[in-house]
Amino acid sequence: MTDSSFDLIEFRRALGAFVTGVTVVTTIQPDGTPRGFTANSFTSVSLDPALILVCIAKTASSHPVFSQTQRFAVSVLAEDQRPVSGVFASKSADKFAQVAWHAQRTGSPVMDGAAASFDCETHQVVDAGDHIILIGRVVDFTHSSATPLGYCRGAYVDFSLSQEALAATGQRAQVGAILEHARGLVLIRTASGMQLPTGMRLEPLSDVTSLRGVLEGLKLNVNLDFLFAVFEEKGITHIYYRGRVVHDAPVAADVRFVPLDAIPWDEIRDPAVQSMLRRYVKERTEDAFGIYVGDVEKGTVQSLVANA
Ligand SMILES: Cc1cc2nc3c(=O)[nH]c(=O)nc-3n(C[C@H](O)[C@H](O)[C@H](O)COP(=O)(O)O)c2cc1C
Repeated sequence: MTDSSFDLIEFRRALGAFVTGVTVVTTIQPDGTPRGFTANSFTSVSLDPALILVCIAKTASSHPVFSQTQRFAVSVLAEDQRPVSGVFASKSADKFAQVAWHAQRTGSPVMDGAAASFDCETHQVVDAGDHIILIGRVVDFTHSSATPLGYCRGAYVDFSLSQEALAATGQRAQVGAILEHARGLVLIRTASGMQLPTGMRLEPLSDVTSLRGVLEGLKLNVNLDFLFAVFEEKGITHIYYRGRVVHDAPVAADVRFVPLDAIPWDEIRDPAVQSMLRRYVKERTEDAFGIYVGDVEKGTVQSLVANA
């Protein structure tokens, strides 16, 4: 029973402050046809045994199927898969005809291009108020380098800044990357001290003045995971991503891998970059990242920006 003083709309709003990913939960019905719906209630439960859960509303038309199924799969959507989320959140009769998918080990469908997927056998179904909790034992999984789609306060969240958003600033830009490697942070040795890799825009790879082009020239194969900082300095918009070096191939001679506790601070001449990097090291140590928006003197760390 709900307490009469309990405002359900406010309760939903409060729950919406919890940032999640977006998944599609799927199975094969007894008649052999695929069934699925969009869910953000996905949670990891246990590592050993490998268990995950997802909550299904008893009002969902696919609830009877999932409450009985012996197997199911969860696809964690990538940021370019908003349309897939829309299809599986709808009541459309032919959801699977509108997306690209393939069968995973247990036969359950998995979305092509997902950031990750978990193929499960049903471990337990728990009755929980107006939902059931479907707990799966993971028998197979995949993951890719795709940036996951986020969801917060009823809207999708982009973790990366698109080219269009950058172009919309209409200003001169410097786009850089704070890149981690097993041996430390990537710094570039230049005539004017140590620097982070930077370009005049993000892409394309074929443009040697873009960040992607610069990284290609340095023989650094990287994933840019998240937008880390945006700040203005002398009329230039500085945009920094946080990322990782993904292949341990030989790199250009000027590339240095520097452990976080051995950064040569006095060789990083740009004070704005130095202060951003100090924040990175502090937050990396605490493992808590925000997005920094502001100017050099008085920036503030803001929450992830919803733009849907
Ligand atoms: C981002 C997002 C997250 C959702 N998460 C859940 C969820 O965790 N559990 C649930 O039962 N429905 C969730 N829904 C709603 C279902 O996707 C929706 O009710 C869908 O129509 C159910 O499909 P069905 O009617 O074919 O069963 C979510 C919808 C969206 C857009």
